[in-house]
Parts: sequence; structure tokens; C-alpha cells
Amino acid sequence: MNICVIGTGYVGLVTGTCFADFGVNVVCVDKDEAKISTLRNGEIPIYEPGLKELVDKNVRERRLSFTTDLEGSIRKALVIFIAVGTPSRNDGSADLSYIEEVARTIARNLNGYKVIVTKSTVPVGTGSLIERIIKNEQNEDHKFDVASNPEFLREGSAIEDFMRPNRVVIGARSPQAIAILKDLYSPLYLIETPFVITDVETAELIKYASNAFLATKISFINEMANICEEVGADVHMVAKGMGLDKRIGPKFLHPGPGFGGSCFPKDTLALTRIARKHGLNFRIVEAVIDVNTYQRERMVDKIKKALGGDITGKCIGVLGLTFKPNTDDIRESPAVYIVKRLLEEGASVKAFDPAGMENTKRILQNVTYCADSYEVADGSDALAILTEWNQFRKLDLDRIKRILKAPVMIDLRNVYEPQDMKRRGFKYVCVGR
Ligand code: UGA
Repeated sequence: MNICVIGTGYVGLVTGTCFADFGVNVVCVDKDEAKISTLRNGEIPIYEPGLKELVDKNVRERRLSFTTDLEGSIRKALVIFIAVGTPSRNDGSADLSYIEEVARTIARNLNGYKVIVTKSTVPVGTGSLIERIIKNEQNEDHKFDVASNPEFLREGSAIEDFMRPNRVVIGARSPQAIAILKDLYSPLYLIETPFVITDVETAELIKYASNAFLATKISFINEMANICEEVGADVHMVAKGMGLDKRIGPKFLHPGPGFGGSCFPKDTLALTRIARKHGLNFRIVEAVIDVNTYQRERMVDKIKKALGGDITGKCIGVLGLTFKPNTDDIRESPAVYIVKRLLEEGASVKAFDPAGMENTKRILQNVTYCADSYEVADGSDALAILTEWNQFRKLDLDRIKRILKAPVMIDLRNVYEPQDMKRRGFKYVCVGR
């Protein structure tokens, strides 16, 4: 089977590569010539553990290729995955202009039956929009089906999530399209992956519902952490006690500076816009967004308070800039927000991140970027952990204490044990413990 994946961003590149690894012939297309030539040279434009090895293997075995020739790729493919960006407009709704452009190109190049699948997170109704565009603008009269197959990949563990998903959601009306997509995913039958087969609109909404619900869990535990701080309780034990209830589950109950990244902030906002468009208020998700915005600012206060209130002229050492570990992605990163705010409040900032410094340098020039955690701590008035990279979990704390100007640690990811830190002589501040 020949498939074509349009858009070599995060979703497209992982999807195309993993399908190739399933044994399918995949061409990944992008209009960005620089990106395609990077990929052709064997370099990966994004940071994702394990992806390079998998791309190399499938290119070598001739199942995976990269091109800017969209029209030719569409003509050769039976299944076309659309994985182009859907950035937020100013009002928070998703901008579908790239998707519309792709739909028009598909219409002009439809030379036989094809299944056109949306993989990017798209508002409800995008499937029918694509269908309308293709119907109105197709050059030749061929049958086609539009389907929705949302991705549930986490940055940093995308390959594992693709190869061992909790579920595969297929939204399509025609039995032929469903059969073709099931066939594409057939290697997952061996590991008994559940398949949810439904209509296009429902599939589109499952993606938003899943991300919004996970974001809700995070905002919930963050508000719970704030209560714990007031009453002297331990939010980790609260999360453990709640999470053991199988109806609740233990995941996504880790408190911190709030969620970031390219998905949760965008998708929660878009869901409230979808609701408004239909005359509804999605009040829970609106509150989730508010709590998340508040949480970042509360973290800034925490740092200020740990340093006696006024941070003018203080030097704060920061560990972690990405929105979470194992990625170089700083989009909507709470860490970047917090650093900006500290600078606004008159502090100077020294920072280290294992993968996110190049991206951060583009937007924050007045930060001193360091080679490792110890260079950050050296001479700083306090050390703040903003992203829980593994290498920050086992710092040489005696050395850190010696080189800091004062032994102050603000651990916004609750990496360390409060009792142990106290015993070691740190002024230690964390979240909800
Ligand atoms: C998320 C979803 O987890 C994926 O299933 C989905 O496919 C993806 O969005 C998407 O829509 O493309 P991702 O944004 O890569 O994946 O990151 P997550 O691991 O979900 O983390 C999101 C944010 O929540 C991070 O800032 C993380 O630090 C924060 N988080 C997560 C917490 O603060 N607490 C937790 O307990 C879990």
C-alpha cells in the first residue's frame, strides 16, 4: 500500500515513519524545501528520542522517502494523511487555511479512489469541510472518503505511543475507508489494541475531549496542591490516595507550574471556542485554562517569597526551560513564562536545559545560558527547578549547597523530598507539600 503524509512536523514525521516501519510505502511531503532537504540528508528537524534511528532504518529499507512534490505524491497514494499545522487564531479558534489549501490540491489531483484522513487535531466539522472542498473542486469524477484518525502522541515518547497505543480511533462512514485504515493498523491487532470506530465528528471530538480531560486533571491537582499548602497536607499523598481509585487513575495528577506545550493550551482554548460557536459555555474547560494561567503566576510569587519578596538585583539559577523533559519544545512552556517574569521583576537569570536552550535563546537574549546545572548554581541567590529532566533528579546537593550564595531551592516539579532537603540545610520550597 502507498500512503502519503502531508506535513513533516511532529505528528506527520512520527506517523509516516511508524507506518513505514509497519511495512507500508510512505512518502512524507512538505512545502518547506529546507526541511525536506534536511530530512533527505538524514537529519531530523525535531527532537524526539528514537526517531532518527527509525527514519534511517526505513529510508535504508526504501519504504520511507521525503519530497516537496505534493501533487505527484497525492496521485500515487491510496491513503492521504493530513498532518499540517492548525495554529491558533487571535480568538483561540483553529486556523484551517493550510488544511483547506491541501484539500484543494487533493481535489485537483484525485485520479482514483482515495481515503483522506485528518491526523492533526482539527475542530469538529473539518472532515465535512474537506469533503465539500474536494467535491466542489475535483477535476475528475472519482469516489473518495474522508476520515478522522486523531493522534495521541506525547512528545518525548511519540514512537512508543504510536507503536503501543491505548487505542486507535477511526472516524469514517464508508466501510471501505474503515477497512483500509484497519488494514494499515493491522500490526497493532497482535498486541490487542482496542479500536474505536465511529463517525468523523465523534472522532474529531474524542481528541479534544481527551486532551481537555487530561488538562482538567492537571489543573485540578494544581488547585488541590494550593489547598494542601494552606492546610499543611501533602498533595502527593492526596494524588496517590485518589489515584488508587480505578475510576480516577493515578496519571496526570502531578502538580507543578501548569501545563504547556503545543497541544493542551491550544486544544483547551479551541474546545471552548467550539462550544461558544454552538451557543454553549464549556465552563469546566474555561476554568481549567484560568487555573493554568494563575498557576504560573503563583510560581513566580513562590520564587519571590523564597527570596524575601523583592528579587531586584538577585540572581536566580534556573534548571529546565522546555515545557516538559525529553523535548526541545518551549512552546507555551511555563518555565519560559516564569523566566520572563523574573526578569521583569528585576532579577537576573542563569539557566541550563539539556535540549531547550537554542530555542529559548531566540526569544530570551538577556539570560546567561550555562553549560550545566553547577554553572547555574554557582554564585546564584537561589536555584529553581522548572522542568523535571532526569539529570536534575540526582544533583550533587552538597556541592550545590556549597556553590549557591544561599542554600535556597525552589522545586516547582517536586523532584526532591522536603524532609531530606530540610535535613541537608536547604530552604526548600515545592508545590503542595
Ligand atoms: C499531549 C497528550 O498527552 C497527548 O496524548 C496528545 O497526543 C498530545 O498532547 C497532542 O495533542 O498532540 P504532550 O503535549 O506531548 O502530549 O505532553 P504531555 O506529556 O501530555 O504534557 C503536557 C503538559 O502537562 C506538560 O507541560 C507537563 O509538564 C504537564 N503535566 C503533565 C503536568 O503538569 N502534570 C502531569 O501530571 C502531567
